[in-house]
Amino acid sequence: MEKQVFVMEHPLIQHKLTYLRDKNTGSKEFRELVSEISMLMCYESTRDLPLMETQVETPMGMATTKVIAGRKLAFVPILRAGLGMVDGVLRMVPAAKVGHIGLYRDHQTLQPVEYYSKLPSDIEERDVIVLDPMLATGGSAIDAITIIKRSHPKSIKFMCIIAAPEGIEAFTKEHPDVQVYCANVDSHLNEIGYIVPGLGDAGDRIFGTL
Ligand code: PRP
Ligand code: URA
Repeated sequence: MEKQVFVMEHPLIQHKLTYLRDKNTGSKEFRELVSEISMLMCYESTRDLPLMETQVETPMGMATTKVIAGRKLAFVPILRAGLGMVDGVLRMVPAAKVGHIGLYRDHQTLQPVEYYSKLPSDIEERDVIVLDPMLATGGSAIDAITIIKRSHPKSIKFMCIIAAPEGIEAFTKEHPDVQVYCANVDSHLNEIGYIVPGLGDAGDRIFGTL
């Protein structure tokens, strides 16, 4: 069976993840770290983009070289916390379009509640990377991808920073065709659905709403 979950062991990602987890890291630094980690993860998760040969004239003569072969990307952050990842990935792929899916977890039921959805009109021509720093029960990511699949993009990947084993299990069962990229799979979920050790509430830490 093809590998579906990719844990990014790159030292720069792991180093930055340590500071991201630290409860003493304030919102400004937290946002910068989310952005930097997302940029590095984007580099890794786009490794399989196909290339084609082209020619370019340098000051010294003609060079046969490569460009990405006509693939168009769209990033779709899950609101709110996914917004923190957009800036980093756009620095890597500035031509990508950005859609948005608004979901929040009901704190009692832990079920995702949809409140917004706006995707690029040409999504059928695009490879989509869905962004959310946290995959906890998996409910939000599962629902976001179900919503996106209704618009028939060419492909979908899911990029998060920290995943719980419970979320990975639920997600891969529901969407076996969607590759998952994360920086770490943590120990477990606590009784209120938070990832342990995790980093706390990602949205609150990004937007300072603790
Ligand atoms: C967080 C996080 C994910 C979701 C993960 O969002 O950003 O979207 O929880 O949990 P799950 O895997 O159990 O669904 P939250 O619902 O706190 O909303 P927010 O981003 O608006 O704060
Ligand atoms: N959402 C978060 O922001 N953090 C968790 O640990 C779980 C869900």
